[in-house]
Amino acid sequence: MSSCIIKKNILIEGKTKKVYNTDNPFEVIIHHTDNITALDGLKKSFIQDKGVLNNEITTLIFQFLNSCNIKTHFIRKINNREQLCHKVDMIPLEFVVRNIVSGSMSQRLGIKEGINLYDPIFEIFYKNDKLKDPLINDYHAVFLKIVSHEELNTIYNITSQINIFIKKYFFDKNIILVDFKIEFGKNYKNEIVLSDEISPDTCRFWDKRTMKKLDKDLFRRGFKEKEEVFDIYIEILKRLNVS
Ligand code: TMP
Ligand code: ASP
Repeated sequence: MSSCIIKKNILIEGKTKKVYNTDNPFEVIIHHTDNITALDGLKKSFIQDKGVLNNEITTLIFQFLNSCNIKTHFIRKINNREQLCHKVDMIPLEFVVRNIVSGSMSQRLGIKEGINLYDPIFEIFYKNDKLKDPLINDYHAVFLKIVSHEELNTIYNITSQINIFIKKYFFDKNIILVDFKIEFGKNYKNEIVLSDEISPDTCRFWDKRTMKKLDKDLFRRGFKEKEEVFDIYIEILKRLNVS
């Protein structure tokens, strides 16, 4: 099947992924590299074959979300490191959902990590490297002409559904979904669709029994050697593959 797709010029090179045009103007190839970054790119490294794991993990999650009727950019995995996706115009916002207090929320508000948020908290970060991706609110996003209030409403609705679906999906695999970041794009019909990736790079996962961290925080906070971070990503993939 993959032999029919012709990979063309590179369209965007991000910190951990590359996007290529294809011979179909409505489809792109997303390539997962082994780069790992944190703290707005300040901390950079390379973990051999992490891209292979993230490609597989994000594939499983997007396939699951597609099966839940969430509109996503994902079409299919085409090889170890690459997926075929619908081409979208990315909205330069990161939507963070928090189910448990951790990370920047804990630091910013001086609240202990681990407190359960019975009502999930939604945050928006403006994707702008120069400004170091600041936290903004709806009014800023509308003022910046990135989205309308109506579009934000749609995004919050989809985001809330995604949280409900994947929280349960992970919980059934003995993983607590502490928080995560997602991004959206607009397809050629101007519909808002979930894009980018969902992986241990973009989520906080804690083990249901031990509350041990199972994600990029181990790298971000320098808790583990690279090899151990790789092993944790393998552990996540193993759990997702158990139905
Ligand atoms: P934070 O606590 O650092 O704000 O992160 C919240 C969640 O969003 C966490 O799961 C990591 C994810 N995230 C990213 O994937 N990329 C980012 O640039 C940021 C700020 C957060
Ligand atoms: N903004 C961070 C980065 O540069 C993401 C993170 O810490 O998760 O990759």
